[in-house]
Amino acid sequence: NPKMWSHPATVRNVATLRADGVRFVGPATGEMAESGEAGIGRMAEPLEIAAALAAMIGAAGQILVGRHVLVTSGPTHEPIDPVRYLANRSSGRQGHAIAAAAAAAGARVTLVSGPVAIPDPAGVTVVHVETALEMQDAVAKALPADVAVMTAAVADWRVAAERPSKMKKDGSGKPPALALTENPDILAGIGHDRKLRPRLVIGFAAETDDLIRHAGEKLKRKGADWIVANDVSPAGGVMGGTENTVHILSRDGSGGKVAVEDWPKLGKDAVAARLVERIARAIGEK
Ligand code: CTP
Repeated sequence: NPKMWSHPATVRNVATLRADGVRFVGPATGEMAESGEAGIGRMAEPLEIAAALAAMIGAAGQILVGRHVLVTSGPTHEPIDPVRYLANRSSGRQGHAIAAAAAAAGARVTLVSGPVAIPDPAGVTVVHVETALEMQDAVAKALPADVAVMTAAVADWRVAAERPSKMKKDGSGKPPALALTENPDILAGIGHDRKLRPRLVIGFAAETDDLIRHAGEKLKRKGADWIVANDVSPAGGVMGGTENTVHILSRDGSGGKVAVEDWPKLGKDAVAARLVERIARAIGEK
């Protein structure tokens, strides 16, 4: 009904759903069934609805059915002693949303997740890990995969020698020195794997400065096909937030140049849905 459709509450709700990635078919314009009114509010014709569904399914729907998609998500915790650890602000929301969207598209999904406070997505095999070394191990065990999406904020460093018992103040007033050692780069390991490299390897780049340049360097260094770059400077509120403004860097540019696709600010679920659609198209073309 035209009045219901143009009601501010409906307009707000529709905008929210669209931002979440929900697609609409109709309403159409014409005469209303019962009230005798005319305007926007008619149900779309059944054939039009069927055609819209066919177009969606054709675009991405069947391609991922039965494919294995591996996703890493969340932070890693690197123990200092039995009660303390090094961590970061990753919530796991974006990675978990991607795992859920891939499962919804029919993929067999393995999600290797660091410690997060959000539930396991439905229909996904979840492997819970704590440290970068455990994540590396779980990723290796999950291979082979058709697609790898590495969203985890893996700690760059771990404590060189984890203390077996709680560190105590020694009364001197001097803080203890923590020696760190670099963690393995899990994405680069997969991206450069000659035998088990998935057909599509996607990394994320969280940057606070010079986003595109740094993300472009990561694309090459880590042997990824795409890098999903996002600005995590404190003003952006992305880390731990529910929205994301991302840029997709790929090697699709002419002459092997890095191509950059800028996406609008979207909810993390909508970013996941769009990314999975793009993944399906790429796998369909390969
Ligand atoms: N990554 C990974 N293993 C690591 C570090 C990062 O798999 N030890 C992956 C992340 O999951 C992400 C991508 O690499 O997909 C980029 O992560 P980021 O932290 O932005 O990059 P770094 O390698 O840490 O680079 P820098 O320290 O220069 O920012």
